[in-house]
Amino acid sequence: MVIFGATGDLTKRKLFPALYNLAKEGFLPENFAIVGVGRQELETNDFRTKIIDDLKGFIEGAPDKNLVKWFEERTYYTGGDFDDDKKLFKDIKDLLAEVCEKHEIPQNFFYYLATPPQLFANVAGKIYKNGLGKEENGFWRRFIFEKPFGRDLESAKKLNHELGKILKENQIYRIDHYLGKETVQNILVFRFGNSIFEPIWNRNFIDSVQITVAEKLGVEQRGGYYDTAGALRDMIPNHIFQLITLTAMEPPVSFEADEVRDEQAKILHAIQPFSPEDVLHNAVRGQYAAGATNDKKVAAYRDEQSVAPASNTETYAALKILIDNWRWADVPFYVRTGKHLSEKYTTIVIQFKKAPFVLFRDTSIERLTTNRIVIHIQPDEGITLHFGAKLPGPIVNMGAVDMDFNYLEHFGKTVSTGYERLLFDCMTGDATLFQRADMVEASWKIVSPILDVWQAIPARDFPNYEAGTWGPPEADQLLEHDGRHWKNTVD
Ligand code: BG6
Repeated sequence: MVIFGATGDLTKRKLFPALYNLAKEGFLPENFAIVGVGRQELETNDFRTKIIDDLKGFIEGAPDKNLVKWFEERTYYTGGDFDDDKKLFKDIKDLLAEVCEKHEIPQNFFYYLATPPQLFANVAGKIYKNGLGKEENGFWRRFIFEKPFGRDLESAKKLNHELGKILKENQIYRIDHYLGKETVQNILVFRFGNSIFEPIWNRNFIDSVQITVAEKLGVEQRGGYYDTAGALRDMIPNHIFQLITLTAMEPPVSFEADEVRDEQAKILHAIQPFSPEDVLHNAVRGQYAAGATNDKKVAAYRDEQSVAPASNTETYAALKILIDNWRWADVPFYVRTGKHLSEKYTTIVIQFKKAPFVLFRDTSIERLTTNRIVIHIQPDEGITLHFGAKLPGPIVNMGAVDMDFNYLEHFGKTVSTGYERLLFDCMTGDATLFQRADMVEASWKIVSPILDVWQAIPARDFPNYEAGTWGPPEADQLLEHDGRHWKNTVD
C-alpha cells in the first residue's frame, strides 16, 4: 500500500488505525508493506516512530507490542516534491522494488491518494509514467481517491476524463467513508435479507423519508477548505446521496459491484432536477452565528480561522428531493446537514402513512401514533420500529411504543474507523462500496443547479441560525409547508 499524503491528518486518524485493526483481526497477509509518501523529508525510522506514536491516540486500548513490531518492520517512507517526477517517483520505484524483494511481495500495489484533489491526476499520471500504474503480468494496480471528487459537474467530469486517460475504470476506487459504516451497509441487508419490509417499502405505505446528518462541531481547523466548499458540496452529493440511493434503490440481481451500483445510479438519474424556481422553494441554506454547544460559547462562522469575514458560504443545507419512479413518486425525501447544530447524529427516518382512523374515532388524530422505522447510522448504531399499543386500562387509548435493535447491545463493541472494510475491499478488488464515474457525475448534476443559483443570489440573511440550534427557520418551513415536521430527537 502506497499512501500519498502520509504525514497528513487522514493517515494519522484513519488509515493507520484501520490498518492496525485489520492486522489485529488477521486480515492482512504476511507479505504486506506500507510505503508512506509525503512532502516532508523524513527518514523511515522517524516515520515509524511518528506513526506508532500517533496510533496510540486513535486505537482502542494500548497498542499490542507484537503488532507494533509487525508494523514497524513493514513501514517505509520517502519524501519529496509531488511535481518532480524525476526524483520522487524514481525513489518510490526503487523503494517499492526493495520492499517487494525484502517481504516477498508480488508486485500488486494499491495507491491511496490522501492528497488535495488538484493532485489526483498529476500523481496518478506520474505513477503510471514510471511504470508503476499499468496492470500487467497478472499484477494489479489500484488507486483510491479521497473526496472531494470535483467541486461541481464540470470539474468532476474533467477529473474523470483525466483519470480515464491514465487508468481503467476498474482500477479507480472513489472512496466515500460513509459506505464503510456498518449501519450503512446494513441498510441493504435489512431491506433485502428480510421479506417483511420490502412489500411495504414504497409510495403505497411510506409517507416521507427524512435524512439528518447533524454535527455539533463547527468547521474546526478546516476553515480554509470549508469556505470554498460549504455544507452542500461537503456532505450532500456524496454521503447523503449514498444514504438516499441505498434506501431507495431496487433490489439488485446480485451483490456484484456493478449490479449494486447500477441500481444506485438509477436512483440518482431518477431524482427530479432542480429548476431555479425549485431551488428557491425546495432548498434552504444557513450559516451559523455565535452561540453555544455543550454549554460552551462558540464563535460565528465568519469569525472562524481562515474564513472570509463576509463569507457567503453555507454551513447548513436542507433539500426536498423527489424521486421520479414508480416506487417513490410523490414521496418526499427531506435531507439536512449542518455544522454546530444542537445534536450530533445521523439517522434515516422512514415515516409510514397513518392507519385509517375509523376504529379510533374517539381518539384525537394527534394521539394516533404513526409507524416509523428509524435507521440509526451514528453515534448509536441500530434500528428502531415505532408503533402504537393500547395503554393499560378499561378505556381503549393508544400510546407510542418501540422495538429497538442496538448494534452494541446485541453484538458487543466492534472497533472500527469505518475505513477497514473499504481498504480490505480495495485489496481484494471488490468495488461495490466505491463510487463509479457515472454516479459521481449524476450526483453533481443534481446539486450543480443549486450551487449555481446560490452563487448567483448571495444569501442576504447570513448568519441565520445560532450555533447550537437546529438551523434556520426556513428549514422548518420547508416541511411545515407540506404539513410535516423535522424529527428533532434521535429515537
Ligand atoms: C467529511 C466532511 O466528509 O465528513 C466533514 O468533509 C464531516 O465536514 C465528516 O465532518 C462527517 O463524517 P462523520 O463520519 O463524522 O459523520
